[in-house]
Amino acid sequence: MKKTAAIILAAGNGKRMKSIKPKPMCEVLFKPMISWVLDCCEETVEKTAVVVTNENTFIQDILPNTVKTYEQIEKLGTAHAVMAAMDFIKENLEDDILILYGDAPFIDKNTVLSSLDFHRNNQNDLTIISAKLDNPFGYGRIIRENGRFTSIIEENDASEEEKLIKEVNSGVYWVKASFLAKALPQIKNNNAKKEFYLTDIASICIGLGKKAEAFKTDNTDSILGANDRKTLALLNEIARQRVIDKLYEDGVNIPFPNTVIISPTVKIGCDTTILPNCIIKGNTEIGENCVIGESTVITNSKIGNGNFIESSNIEESVIDDNTHIGPFVHIRPKSHIMNGVKLGNFVEIKSSEIGEKTSVAHLTYLGDSELGSYVNVGCGVVTANYDGKNKLKTTIGDSSFIGCNTNFIAPVNVGKGVVIAAGSTITEDIDDFSLAIARAKQTTISDWALTKGKYKKGLK
Ligand code: UD1
Ligand code: CA
Repeated sequence: MKKTAAIILAAGNGKRMKSIKPKPMCEVLFKPMISWVLDCCEETVEKTAVVVTNENTFIQDILPNTVKTYEQIEKLGTAHAVMAAMDFIKENLEDDILILYGDAPFIDKNTVLSSLDFHRNNQNDLTIISAKLDNPFGYGRIIRENGRFTSIIEENDASEEEKLIKEVNSGVYWVKASFLAKALPQIKNNNAKKEFYLTDIASICIGLGKKAEAFKTDNTDSILGANDRKTLALLNEIARQRVIDKLYEDGVNIPFPNTVIISPTVKIGCDTTILPNCIIKGNTEIGENCVIGESTVITNSKIGNGNFIESSNIEESVIDDNTHIGPFVHIRPKSHIMNGVKLGNFVEIKSSEIGEKTSVAHLTYLGDSELGSYVNVGCGVVTANYDGKNKLKTTIGDSSFIGCNTNFIAPVNVGKGVVIAAGSTITEDIDDFSLAIARAKQTTISDWALTKGKYKKGLK
């Protein structure tokens, strides 16, 4: 059985995107386009190589280490880029090679595998995946004579008549490695852009009496590529709608979907409602019967069932069930909010565990803290968790009552059932069931203000 290997081209310099990053690093639904293409390769071929630029663009950082990389120094076109991976082609000389471009993220398993069947059944040396687009502008056109595929002509080189052709080159090819190794050095750069076009491989193939065919897919979205910001926005919109349609099938309630943005990796349970302006990203999982209220941003978090979250920001944290969070709560990474917790407006939680049924209702910062269950945290409580060098911990036991404006100077341990008077600055540990008051005693001087003229304004 012949094997399969993929080469993804990702070294181009994104001129039309007007970006300092390579184009495949531009994101669709918060994920670089190259990563979408890599996911497809992972599902379809045995090994993958990526042609990257030699400049420091961080693209290597996001590639898995199972992937081989080859550097293209000068950017002289798509055929020149494949040449950069010649060692990879030679290592896999008996295989069918899948070539893809890193700026066309929607290529899918089904299209790749059915075109491989077509390629093998017809014993082709080269199979090009094509599709008919209503607006073919910018793509290479598929030229056929009497229905038979003969060549690809690029937009810049096409005649007015050829520009009317709607069948385009997807930029995804199956090619026998042995033929690829022979054909690449024959490609010339005598075209409008003076680049070495991989697309010329089609006419070379046919000229050598070998077999090249176009595999026309009906799944037109799967071939769309983005060369500029406007098209990138279009791809984002297609991807966004696809995710929402899939969530509808899973029973998720998104009544006003236009401004809701959810990554394809997110999982949401049935009867959960997502309201406008929410952005839900990464490996987030949300359970059933939640309401994710307007303008909430959730990243890489696990949210249980029956939660009500509004206008809040949650990052890399775990929320159990039946909590009420927001509006305007910020939960920062490594936090765990347990069942039935209430977090109210302007509360920030960082690297903290908040026990069951605890209430932190207003204007509070809890960092590096561990709170038990049924704790009541008053308004304006702050943990002073950073001494300029280290992060220090505050623990508060079950059922303690923390008065408004308490400061905890960490590290500090507060027992269970403790009462802390409002306005206290707590520097020492407190035993279970104690009362702590740590504030200056009030002094009141009668009629003092009457002796000072400046405080009498407006008094009768
Ligand atoms: C290419 C095809 C076109 C096809 C379209 C599909 C060629 C000549 N044209 O056009 O027929 O319809 O894709 O989207 O192949 N790259 C390199 N090194 C280079 C040049 C490009 O790695 O020197 C990479 C880019 O990063 C990109 C990919 O190759 O990921 C395609 O290059 P691009 O310039 O976008 O080709 P298109 O003009 O879109
Ligand atoms: Ca492109």
